[in-house]
Amino acid sequence: MHPKTIIEPFKIKSVEPIRFTTREEREALLKEAGYNPFLLPAEDVLIDLLTDSGTSAMSAKQWAGIMEGDESYAGSKSFYRFEAVIKSLTHMKHIIPTHQGRAAEKILFSIVGGTGKFIPNNTHFDTTRANVEFTGAEAVDLLNEIGKHPEIRADFKGNMDIEKLEAFIKEKGSENIPLCMITITNNSGGGQPVSMQNIRETKEICKKYGIPLFLDACRFAENAYFIKLREKGYENKTPLEIAQEMFSYADGVTMSAKKDALVNIGGFLAMNDDELAMKCRNLLIVTEGFPTYGGLAGRDLEAVAQGLLEIVDEHYLQYRIRSIEYLGERLIAAGVPIIEPPGGHAIYIDAKRFLPNIPADQYPGQSIVAELYLEGGVRAVEIGSVMFGKYDNNGKLIPSMMELVRMAIPRRVYTQSHIDYLIEVVIEVFKNRDKLKGYKITYEAPMLRHFTAKFEPIK
Ligand code: F0G
Repeated sequence: MHPKTIIEPFKIKSVEPIRFTTREEREALLKEAGYNPFLLPAEDVLIDLLTDSGTSAMSAKQWAGIMEGDESYAGSKSFYRFEAVIKSLTHMKHIIPTHQGRAAEKILFSIVGGTGKFIPNNTHFDTTRANVEFTGAEAVDLLNEIGKHPEIRADFKGNMDIEKLEAFIKEKGSENIPLCMITITNNSGGGQPVSMQNIRETKEICKKYGIPLFLDACRFAENAYFIKLREKGYENKTPLEIAQEMFSYADGVTMSAKKDALVNIGGFLAMNDDELAMKCRNLLIVTEGFPTYGGLAGRDLEAVAQGLLEIVDEHYLQYRIRSIEYLGERLIAAGVPIIEPPGGHAIYIDAKRFLPNIPADQYPGQSIVAELYLEGGVRAVEIGSVMFGKYDNNGKLIPSMMELVRMAIPRRVYTQSHIDYLIEVVIEVFKNRDKLKGYKITYEAPMLRHFTAKFEPIK
């Protein structure tokens, strides 16, 4: 039998209740939070899609690893297990634990960054960009043109623009480009994958100019599975083999284990260059901890090692990618505009097409985010002009390129009926879109304003 129904490849041993609220309660709660869901107590959220980071459900084996964690300060058994699993996955020479992805970025760019330097990437995630720019270097996005069009369907919308990359290296000079990065999958561009061919071609160009290639590999397993589904020659390879090939083209890796290592906290840096590794370890000791724990407990290292073995399971990845696609299909069928095709970890609603009458300076994405909460207790996040908008000299908003609402799906947490409920909520909000109002900002911090801004609906 070849069953049509793809099921969750696990059964549930431990559950966590979720709290139902009434619309009246949610109206009061959202007003209290200044219409910013970041400021809502998580307890008052029914389905929490703020992020897929650190929100995974751990397996029984991961919890067993938590008990087995060796908490020795130096040379802990758990570190050696962590190192062995990551070495067999990446074949990198040096494995350096960090407490999360941005800590790995901070260490790496503190060493290679600085004024006058440039870091190309398909698209930098915000913390990566911030860590590059904090050193005075410039973070440059060289995404393929097709990745910038939410309505166009293509297999690998996360690909680097190879021609632009080469032209960029020639213009700036390879001596000013300490490394090149590829983010897999491309979170800021809709969770879209990068093809093996594109990783290989990027590596060839980097090699030609003597520039190391690093992967921002938070969602490497989801990317590997997309390659299996969509790229010729990979259909019979295992996700692990595909991932190993992806890493074989890289000289280094930064990883937030909070995504595709199925843990609540953790990360690492990996690389082949001995001298760079020595510098990273020295900085790690100052900022994170001894090189065999890097800001983590021994138990966390165990959970990461076990999570990395589980994430490449083909049944898991089939269920994971299919459940996001299912959500996307249902929304598309109802006419809801989203980034197509669905990505690996989230669905991104295109707020510009959802609410064409609300201009960017009245934050259409924020309006949808507020309504999703009011309608069904769903928490999503605006990725548009609230997050990326800047002001010109006259105080006028320079809007973000795209106005998106991200619904990120935590791993192994919600079942299909949670997703069916979510679909109902989104469709209901879409049906009532003519009633939605724009928002104005009443308070904002000078940096990263989306976390703490307060809003009011425009009457
Ligand atoms: N790189 C990418 C592509 C990410 O998506 C993230 C985090 C990081 C680096 C930083 O890792 O959070 O462990 O420090 N993304 C989360 C998100 C926060 O919601 O997309 P971190």
